[in-house]
Amino acid sequence: MGVVATVAELDRQFGIPNIAKVVEGNGGLPKIVVTTAAASGEMYLHGAHVTSWKPTSADEVLFVSSKSRWDDSHAIRGGVPICFPWFGDKAGDPKAPAHGFVRAKPWQLEPTAHDGTAVTVSMFTESDDSTKKWWSADFRLVYRVTFGSELVLELMLTNTGALPLRFEEALHTYHRVGDVTRILVRGLDGFQYLDKTDSLREKTQQGDITINSETDRVYLNTQHPLELEDPALHRRTRIAKENSSTTVIWNPWIQKAAAMADLGDGEWKQMICIETSNVSGLAVELGPGQQHNMKATIQVAGL
Ligand code: BG6
Repeated sequence: MGVVATVAELDRQFGIPNIAKVVEGNGGLPKIVVTTAAASGEMYLHGAHVTSWKPTSADEVLFVSSKSRWDDSHAIRGGVPICFPWFGDKAGDPKAPAHGFVRAKPWQLEPTAHDGTAVTVSMFTESDDSTKKWWSADFRLVYRVTFGSELVLELMLTNTGALPLRFEEALHTYHRVGDVTRILVRGLDGFQYLDKTDSLREKTQQGDITINSETDRVYLNTQHPLELEDPALHRRTRIAKENSSTTVIWNPWIQKAAAMADLGDGEWKQMICIETSNVSGLAVELGPGQQHNMKATIQVAGL
């Protein structure tokens, strides 16, 4: 009853008739569902997590695990988790949540906008007692997602405190693919990367990326667009970015996937994470009152 009342109230405040509706999603978690002439999409308030984007010209672009947990204390497995203010484990604090605390935090909606073919959903979260338990900084984080013929993800951090801060961030995007062993990720030939499967050794990419074993890499100094080619789904996805210096490429492969309770059997083959990010030595430093905006634009076309 409580959840239903909350969802109804959120819908009254932030819904747009026939275009954007707040409803109860999986596990009773509130989500906003958008539909326009150009696309449909879904986003949970839990973690400000985008779980679906389907341009009218294509099938679903994002992967979501059939075994994802849907509760307010776990991150959703799939879609676009937001990693902030650290990536992976927090240095020197093994008890801190992996990939930071905002992917399992309730975010708040801001007014929804509509321009005819695209809908922009905005959510924000701020520092509070729950974040200060892990990180002392004062901040405000706004996430603006535009669902249209392209998917635009903009993460904007303001340092609202009196001290400079340093943070990592990633839009941990799970792309749905037909067969990960057949995909190509183009655009990183000759770039340096840190290999997380090999003690973070720095290596050089030779040619396009193919996936034939566990892959967990941080590509450095990569501000330019990348392409994901998927022969099984006959499509090419272009990922352009702004104010992002690193790209993480991740697929757990067979063994790691089998140990993940929230990934369905064999589903490692249907996903590749290509993460617009600023991590490792390329973390962001921000003075008091300063703002940093990281943006990813995703487009899909037939092969
Ligand atoms: C990737 C990391 O971005 O996320 C991997 O590079 C990690 O090391 C993966 O295993 C999944 O993380 P999690 O916390 O969602 O299981």
